[in-house]
Amino acid sequence: MAKVSPSILSADFANLGRDVKMAVEAGSDMIHVDVMDGHFVPNISIGVPVVKSLRKATDGFLDVHLMISQPERYIDAFMDAGADLINIHLEAEGDMAAMLAHVRERGVKAALTIKPATPAQSVFPYLPLLDMVLVMSVEPGFGGQSFMPDSLDKVRALRAEIDRQGLDCLIEIDGGVNLKNAPEIVAAGTDILVAGSAVFGAPDPAEAIRTLKRL
Ligand code: DX5
Ligand code: ZN
Repeated sequence: MAKVSPSILSADFANLGRDVKMAVEAGSDMIHVDVMDGHFVPNISIGVPVVKSLRKATDGFLDVHLMISQPERYIDAFMDAGADLINIHLEAEGDMAAMLAHVRERGVKAALTIKPATPAQSVFPYLPLLDMVLVMSVEPGFGGQSFMPDSLDKVRALRAEIDRQGLDCLIEIDGGVNLKNAPEIVAAGTDILVAGSAVFGAPDPAEAIRTLKRL
């Protein structure tokens, strides 16, 4: 069974508490929170105060995807706010191994994310430090883009290496996931599907979550 992490980027920000409650009640394994700084990606979304408010509104697992240039400056604030998982881009600035170790020392799950142009192999040295690796299947910055099929080769390469090293590291995919392409994405070895528009843009978002989870 696939795990699902609906991206609130496509939720109704004026009714975020309601949308997150719906997503958790429908069986979401995580809630994906997209943080953008207008520098690492050409868009600005939400930050620490929103995570803090979400933490009060839900017991759901908060999967915080940091699309920011200087994660080191902010990871403690996001953990203080209640993030359950901190997801840093490999292409961002700073000492990745040190940041990941720091996150884990605080009892929070640690993840690395790669953009479409970054090879899967660049994550291999970090795998033992990770609870999860996120493969971006669109250029980060916006919801509603089309899935890049090449990302499935990266999932397969990561799955093979994680198994070869005997590690307990989950693979998440983010961008362009929908009910149609999800079976193939799961078959490639993906554990967790992030879905924004496919969930919150669906006529029945709760049903979309349940359908994705059944895969
Ligand atoms: C894009 C974000 C994604 C986005 C996915 O930069 O990281 O999480 O919300 O949206 P969809 O599922 O609509 O492609
Ligand atoms: Zn994301």
